[in-house]
Amino acid sequence: MARRPRIAVVGSANIDLTTFTDRFPKPGETIFGQKFDLGFGGKGANQAVAARFCGADVFMVARVGNDLFGPATIENFKKLGIDTTQVKQVEGLSSGVAPIFVEPNGQNRILVVKGANDAMKPADVDAAGETLKACDCIILQFEIPLETVYYTVAFARKHKVRCIVNPAPAQAVDLRALAELDYFVPNESEAETITGVAVKNLEDARRCAGKLLAGGIRRVIVTLGANGSLVAGSGVSEHVPPFSVKSIDSTGAGDAFIGSFAVFLAEGLPELEAVRRANLYAAMSTTGVGTQKSFYKREAFDAEWLARG
Ligand code: RIB
Repeated sequence: MARRPRIAVVGSANIDLTTFTDRFPKPGETIFGQKFDLGFGGKGANQAVAARFCGADVFMVARVGNDLFGPATIENFKKLGIDTTQVKQVEGLSSGVAPIFVEPNGQNRILVVKGANDAMKPADVDAAGETLKACDCIILQFEIPLETVYYTVAFARKHKVRCIVNPAPAQAVDLRALAELDYFVPNESEAETITGVAVKNLEDARRCAGKLLAGGIRRVIVTLGANGSLVAGSGVSEHVPPFSVKSIDSTGAGDAFIGSFAVFLAEGLPELEAVRRANLYAAMSTTGVGTQKSFYKREAFDAEWLARG
């Protein structure tokens, strides 16, 4: 039997506090929300869990706070079979938290307080170096300091490990420091913030990807929500269509895409095939509430993939 893919995530772990509401309160107004959900989240942790559910051995490098949430987060990783050797509690800091608001159409708005995620330093990457070097892929996001992201991209290149960067939440970025990554995967709003090109349709996404490529990025995948994804590289601009599902909460769909994509690639699937499958995995995650708890196990995904022909 072929060995399982080995995926590392150098990234964030948060606690998600999700409120479902019909509308947002005006300044000074108090209104009732419809429902509340407390769950494990954080873009890094979500991507790690998606990769784990898709069948990978997963190594998480993260920092959690010295509060109730820290040990619970580590316990959750352990329960799911994720390697937590390099998930450490930081004294004097809170865990990352994310108040999330979801509208009736499934659209979400997220506020992140980084807490201990912000304490992740390049030295922590070195401390995890031996295991990172042996992985098939390292995944990064922007909920840890950018200095650490840049350092890890260079580390991955030096040790010939595939590297995927999800620039979320979007912020001003030094594209030259990311030039050596393998995949840059923003959603529409992240792509817009980074390039200044508003992404309202596929043509905008192509323009935006063109700007990123011109800035030195080698390969871009713009995730387009219900419109699928765009894969772009030198001489390549391919729209990968979406799968239709009954979506109730899109929170974490981008994370489901990235974690599953890393696994499908590491299994040796051709790029566009891996993107197609990741599109379905992400779409399926929007049919449930929350982030990690809405992700499907591999068996259920494979059955759906087969059913969709
Ligand atoms: O991508 C969804 C995630 O963004 C949530 O889990 C939240 O914690 C924020 O990191």
